[in-house]
Amino acid sequence: MAAKPVILVTRKLPDSVEQKLAQHFTTILNPDDRLYGTAEMLQLAENADAILPCHTEKFSAGTIAQLPARVKAIANFSVGVDHVDLDAARQKQVVVTNTPDVLSDATAEIAMLLMLGAARRASEGERLVRNQQWKDWSPAFMVGHQVTGKRLGILGLGRVGQVVARRGRGFEMKIHYHNRNPLNPEQAGDAIYHDSVEALLASIDVLSIHCPASEATRGLLNRERIALMHRDAILVNTSRGGVIDDDALVAALQSDVIAAAGLDVFNGEPNSIHPGYRELDNVFLLPHIGSATRETRDAMGFRAIDNLVAIFNGEEPGDRVA
Ligand code: DGY
Repeated sequence: MAAKPVILVTRKLPDSVEQKLAQHFTTILNPDDRLYGTAEMLQLAENADAILPCHTEKFSAGTIAQLPARVKAIANFSVGVDHVDLDAARQKQVVVTNTPDVLSDATAEIAMLLMLGAARRASEGERLVRNQQWKDWSPAFMVGHQVTGKRLGILGLGRVGQVVARRGRGFEMKIHYHNRNPLNPEQAGDAIYHDSVEALLASIDVLSIHCPASEATRGLLNRERIALMHRDAILVNTSRGGVIDDDALVAALQSDVIAAAGLDVFNGEPNSIHPGYRELDNVFLLPHIGSATRETRDAMGFRAIDNLVAIFNGEEPGDRVA
């Protein structure tokens, strides 16, 4: 019987996922969930036929060039693939896959939490109660913004964006969106299409960002564009920090150009996020937990396994991105 292919798993995955993976493959696991440096990962990859990484491992062109020849695939445990240089992978004929669809509900939940948390000053309020600083109630106390019935702008009405739109409709929000091209009516429903980011920003009360990080979207929410939003507007990001120009957003929040922001993803996360965010009361901050539910983490793992099984059976994996 042929030996099972060897899979290097860079982070601790749910037990159910690791057990299922072991049914198909020989596994090199990371039970202590240590964050490997590139050199250590490359060394471990010497004994692997594929790698199952998270977005915490970076595969630059230089790293991909150094991958041992026996590594045939990078089967990501993530929908985002901005941590992988896809062109370099294609050039080296390393197959790359991701895990779309299965984290849309969980990520949309976090988008709604950020929206409500930012609008209703949840972070500030929680601190008051926790730190025993809550002294009084009055009609003027902790007044925030209502989201019910407001205009929800979705930048990137893809898989996650469409779930957020459905959740927003539950709050009687009117959905607006910008994509490169309008969606067909089945996908868009009653959502109003704007043919530019600028037109979208000028037409909404809440912005939820769902476009992938790429060269084209880096710093897309810059000073000029943020200034197009109105003073009571709220910005929510569950995509990637790179889509936002942090200096611009911090300045806008400091000077009430917009009302508030809810952020789950950051440039330089986790250790080097913009210090300005920590100082501001009008931001609601979470530590990149969009997909962090038991159901979703299992589903992401099973999806990555399906991709690996297909690859090593000589079939086209369902979620190939390179
Ligand atoms: C994703 O899947 O892209 C999430 O952000 C976690 O990496």
